[in-house]
Parts: sequence; structure tokens; C-alpha cells
Amino acid sequence: CMTRNYTFNIVQHNVTRLCHTKSIVSINGRFPGPRIVARDGDQLLVKVVNHVSNNVTIHWHGIRQLRSGWADGPAYVTQCPIQTNQTYTYNFTIIGQRGTLFWHAHISWMRATVYGPIIILPKRNESYPFRKPYKEVPIIFGEWWNVDPEAVINQALQTGGGPNVSDAYTINGFPGPLYNCSSKDTFKLKVKPGKTYMLRLINAAMNDELFFSIANHTVTIVEADAVYVKPFQTDVVMITPGQTTNVLLNAKPYYPGATFLMAARPYFTGQGTFDNSTVVGILEYEQPLNHTSNAKKMVFKPTLPPINATTLVANFTGKFRSLKNPNLTASVPQIVDRIFYFTTGLGSSPCPKNITCQGPNGTKFAASVNNVSFALPTTALLQAHVTKKSNGVYTTDFPINPPNPFNYTGTPPNNTLVSIATRLVELPFNTSVELVLQDTSILGAENHPLHLHGFNFFVVGQGFGNYNAKQDRNNFNLVDPVERNTIGVPAGGWVAIRFLADNPGVWFMHCHFDVHTSWGLRMAWIVMDGPLPSQKLPPPPSDLPKC
Ligand code: C2O
Repeated sequence: CMTRNYTFNIVQHNVTRLCHTKSIVSINGRFPGPRIVARDGDQLLVKVVNHVSNNVTIHWHGIRQLRSGWADGPAYVTQCPIQTNQTYTYNFTIIGQRGTLFWHAHISWMRATVYGPIIILPKRNESYPFRKPYKEVPIIFGEWWNVDPEAVINQALQTGGGPNVSDAYTINGFPGPLYNCSSKDTFKLKVKPGKTYMLRLINAAMNDELFFSIANHTVTIVEADAVYVKPFQTDVVMITPGQTTNVLLNAKPYYPGATFLMAARPYFTGQGTFDNSTVVGILEYEQPLNHTSNAKKMVFKPTLPPINATTLVANFTGKFRSLKNPNLTASVPQIVDRIFYFTTGLGSSPCPKNITCQGPNGTKFAASVNNVSFALPTTALLQAHVTKKSNGVYTTDFPINPPNPFNYTGTPPNNTLVSIATRLVELPFNTSVELVLQDTSILGAENHPLHLHGFNFFVVGQGFGNYNAKQDRNNFNLVDPVERNTIGVPAGGWVAIRFLADNPGVWFMHCHFDVHTSWGLRMAWIVMDGPLPSQKLPPPPSDLPKC
């Protein structure tokens, strides 16, 4: 194992897309940002220097941060922001994870332009549980606005309405030929006939789950959220924001003159046609050296499912199963100490007096967990917890059930008003937790990719309609459930997860649609120190930013 040093200079950088040039916040002037490459077991020291006028934090999405909660990154949860001209070094070690994750800014909507891959290789001397690919290629999906994304969310919050949708989806920062002025800005992957490529797929989009497909090719899924899974083949991948997955692509024998398009477009919120809401990239075969054929260029297009393909998506997500691995550090809790039932959904809050709200019936759009719309404090929760200064910052009475018994029958319940508060759950060290997430679909059918910081959880069950503990608990998969950090709560359905609270600290949980997070679909768990020295969170690093 070794220590790897990176320096992230936060700088403004001009980027041109869709014929518009704008100055974005970037890392080292790169968009998308630089790759972090490490092996399982390595220590990372990432020195972040803020040269821009915005406050910044960086989150290492999916990294477990075992006893290194000070390096997790969500603003006002584990740290105060890094202010202009300040520096903070994120110090953490990768323990028992291999595959693909990503890093992104974790303050307001800055992650729209500040993101990049985390590539975790197996330990030296350890191989993949599948044949070594010829090449590995990160494919990171994003969303692009012609205007400053901060202005988009600020305007939405000030008017109480919804934000403007993005102007393009992107693959590795490129919108592709279906968008205005973008044929030069197209991601191209050149492959050698007969070779196997590992695509490291990352959904860094702000507000949309995506379908992804490559014309005339199936892929084999081998890993999800930096955990190996039982391999399975698919024509179409559905990936939610916050999810990452490695897939193997077998290049076919030589195809004279053919071009294969790869494409991604939103599941559930998109327009559902092969049009300018679709980002396209190109898969091209290298020509043999003695190639002379003038064969007409053939272009193959992939077929993407319709936007409401909920059954297909449920089947696809249900196929993920953990690969039994001797190095697996965790195993699914067979018995649980605490059971929580959280409704996750959209709703509204009263309109503040000074504005005219554009939400339903003149209210302000809000989103909540158990009808609590989580308010971020102006200081960091983790510091308040460790210094025992929670008074006036947060309370530990987060409701373990929704305020009214939930029963979704297709007719939205009429009480959609939420309360705004900073309420957390406190868990003793090593509590084993079962959490059922139920979508309420109060304001139209919406999905929620729920992301938990600091843990991988096991997805033990999922279904449509109301969760029914009596029946559904009997069908939980306690044998080989997939281990993830982000799971889509299906529109009008539920998922059940289990995790062991073995990581002391304060851990954010939120919808990875940034608009829903901004509206309050977020909460946090406190995990107390255990009795042994190895079960305690070490004191904060001396350069931890102050608010
Ligand atoms: Cu990828 Cu809290 O985030």
C-alpha cells in the first residue's frame, strides 16, 4: 500500500459548448475533472486549494471513509466550506473497495461542473474476478447548462418553483451530434476488433436517471458502486445519479466501415424520442493495416426503452447480486436492532411573505423524508456533534415513521405540507439498521435515487405499491443482496436496505437529484463512537475549515 498525493486547484476556466462560452468552476482547469487512481488499501491525500470566489467542498462519493469522516466533504454536514484562498487536505484510506466511484463538489449546485472519476484498482497481486480487459475507459455522464448552474437553483429557490432543465446531457463532457453546434464535441471510442474493453460508467448528471445503450452490442455488468457483482448481460443499462458500474464490452470481429452509436437519455423525465435530449457518442472499429475497402459507411443506432419502462427498470435493478468474495468485509445483517420506515417525496411548504411562489397552489416546492424538509445549519453538524454543541444546531428526534400512516392508493394524500427542521437519528455504534424507503408520488410519479454517505448498504427488497412489512419482509433476500451506496426508490414503490452502523461520525443521506436535495430531501445519521479505540472517530485535522 502507498500514499498518493493529488493537488486540486479550484480555478475558473472557460468552456465552450453548444456555441456558448462560459466560465465554469473547475479543478486544475479541466472539464470533466482529473482522475483519481488508487489501489484498494492506498491512502489518499488530496490538497484542495480554493482560488475562486465561491465556497467549495469536495466529496469522495462512495468512499466508505472508515473513521475518516472529516474527509467526507458535504458542506455543513462534515465540514465548513473551504473559503476563497483557503486550503484543506482530504486524508483518507480506501478499505475493501474496488471498481469505480467518483468525486464531486458537495455544496449548492457546484457539482454540475466539478466532478471526475475515482478508479480503484485491486491490491497488487490481486486480479479481477473476470478476464483482464484489454483497456479500461471511464464514461462519465453529466448535464450542461448554458448559464451558471448556481443561478438556476438560486432562481428556483427564490421563486419557489422548479429549476430550468439543462441544455444538454454529456458523455465525458461532450453533448454529441444531436445537439446544436456539437458534432465536433462528440465522445469517440476506437476499439480493436476482438478485444474486451471495460467501461467504467458514472452517472454524474444532476437530475436524471439515464438509459445507456450501444448499438448492436450487449455489455456484461461486473461491478456496481465499487463492489463486484455476479456478471450478467444486458442491452440497456439504467444508471441513477450517484451510481457507478463497470461493464465489459466485447468488440466484435472486424466490421468494415461501420460506426456504432452509443447513446444515453433520461428515464422517466425525458421526452422519450431519439432527439436532442439524447447524448450520443461513437464506437468505432480500427481498420486493419492493409484495409483498402471503400465500403459505404454504415451507422447503427441503439434502441433505448421508452421513458416509462418501469417494469424493465425493476427487472434490471433486481438482477444485481453480490459476488461472494473472500475479501468482502461486510455481510448482510441477518437480524436487525432498529427498523425505520421513511417516506421520500415531494410536497410543499408555506410561501415566505416576501416572494410570490410558483409551486402548487401558491406554495413553495419542498421535498422531504417523513414530512421533514431538512435544513442545513450554518455550522458543520460533525463538529457540533464532536464538541457536544448541538444546542441550536440540530436535534436527534428524526421521526422513525411518517407522521400519518402512509397509504398510497393512486390518489395523492392532500396533506403535502412539510416542516422545515434539522433533525437527525442517533445510532449507538454497531447498530444494525433496516430502512424501508417508500416513494409517495404526491406530485406526480417521481423517482428518488437515495444515496447514503459512509456506508454500503445491502438492498434486501424492492417492490411497487405500499410496502407491507408482514408480507414483504418474508421475501427479503438475505443471501446475496447487492451492496451499494445509491439505490433508486421507484416511483410509486419502495426499497428495503440494511446496513451495520460501524462507522462513527455524521452521515448524510439524500436524494441524488440535486433539485430534490435542494428542496430538502435529505437527512443525517449520527453514529456514536464505540468503546474501543479502534471504534472511535479521531479528532479533527488541524486544517479543517471553520465557518
Ligand atoms: Cu454524491 Cu452526498 O453525494
